[in-house]
Amino acid sequence: MALHDKRGVPVSTESRESLDRLETATELLLGYFADPLAAIDEALAENPAFVMGHCFRAGLFLISSERGAEPELRRSLEAAEALARKANDRERGHMAAARAWLEGDFHEAVERYSSVLIDHPRDIFALQMAHLGDFFLGQSVMLRDRVARVLPDWDEAVPGFGYVLGMHAFGLEESNQYGRAEATGRRALALMPRDPWAVHAVAHVMEMQGRLADGIEWLTSRTDDWAPENMFAFHNWWHLALYHLDLGQTDRVLQLYDEAIRPKHSAVALEMLDAAALLWRLHLRGVDVGNRWAELADTYEPMAEDAYYTFNDMHAMMAFVADGREEAAKRLLAALERRITGGGTNGVMTREVGLPVCRAIQAFGKGDYATTVDLLLLVRTIAHRFGGSHAQRDVLSQTLIEAALRDNQGRLARALMAERTDLKPTSPYNWLTTARALDLLGHRIEANRANAKAAALLPRQASESVNVVMA
Ligand SMILES: [Fe+2]
Repeated sequence: MALHDKRGVPVSTESRESLDRLETATELLLGYFADPLAAIDEALAENPAFVMGHCFRAGLFLISSERGAEPELRRSLEAAEALARKANDRERGHMAAARAWLEGDFHEAVERYSSVLIDHPRDIFALQMAHLGDFFLGQSVMLRDRVARVLPDWDEAVPGFGYVLGMHAFGLEESNQYGRAEATGRRALALMPRDPWAVHAVAHVMEMQGRLADGIEWLTSRTDDWAPENMFAFHNWWHLALYHLDLGQTDRVLQLYDEAIRPKHSAVALEMLDAAALLWRLHLRGVDVGNRWAELADTYEPMAEDAYYTFNDMHAMMAFVADGREEAAKRLLAALERRITGGGTNGVMTREVGLPVCRAIQAFGKGDYATTVDLLLLVRTIAHRFGGSHAQRDVLSQTLIEAALRDNQGRLARALMAERTDLKPTSPYNWLTTARALDLLGHRIEANRANAKAAALLPRQASESVNVVMA
């Protein structure tokens, strides 16, 4: 006998208790609240034959994007596969997805989850897995369209609809449809205020549009919804820090780093990479961050050579370079060179993006800015293939521009800054950096004009503490 969850999706169990626990775990995961693993472990302790429980558990480890999670992913998948004959087609689809991921084919895994959604468009767990998979693969358009596919089968009467809208909002944002993204994100939150993914989608809109005051207001006015006890809070704090960084408020950025983004030691890959990405942005601006790099580099060293996902490699390399760890940087590059011969999705992503990016960061650390420029110009336009969001990958453009400035390539820096001011004319950082490029070219009057634009965009207290390197 099969039961159906509250969205009408079949679950091959006769235990109402097991299904209830799965519903709880699913809702915790949708809102990134602790602790879906504990919830599903309780279900499996009571009912070891609960096949969807094993599939759910495999998915949890799969999306952690960590090598250390692989044994538990394998254990859960094998437990599910041992029950395959009692499973339904939907559950066998989940197994196929987890199996593809475990074998290193991340694209296949996402498509398998997506296949489940063709037959079961209300399988919100499959949708979340596919959505996060698209994020890890940098498939911006599919972040939008894979969610759009299921929308005809959802409405406000179906439990969890707000979360579906939150995912759609993020996909719209990553597809540069900012107006629709914001409206959809706000609609999601009207239904489900404590959805940190929808909060995040709107925060991204504000980041991309350079609405710095709006972004600060957006996040700080609703911290009670997204921050307490939330596994995703570090990333929304990171977004708040980005707005302050653009305003030159580096003391506030470091305060957010210490209190919210990296309040304690953590070896969680996604938390580490946000920490590194923020410190690197400060590094590019010449800000002294004290011993923060050392703590991060210490954490990366034992795990760097065996990363599961090359987006993490870039951030490990930043830590090694900024902390002057040349040996660790060399070992990381050697590991990446070995990996690209091995195949799998991560091997391909490493070859196409991860390796050249890490070489570029290493060259930056050595002061070989010309090499950084050459490498990043080539890789920048395909960098989405190693995953992340536009806002995260912007660190590549910022590194490229800083390298161009330091290599006295004023015309290139001027051109790259023109890209940015066209897209985001309200960013003080963009105008201050434009001024540096113009200075380099000897265009003093235009440089003064650009500096004046930046000053006009800065709050008074921020304009007094702007911290930029004048090359
Ligand atoms: Fe983000």
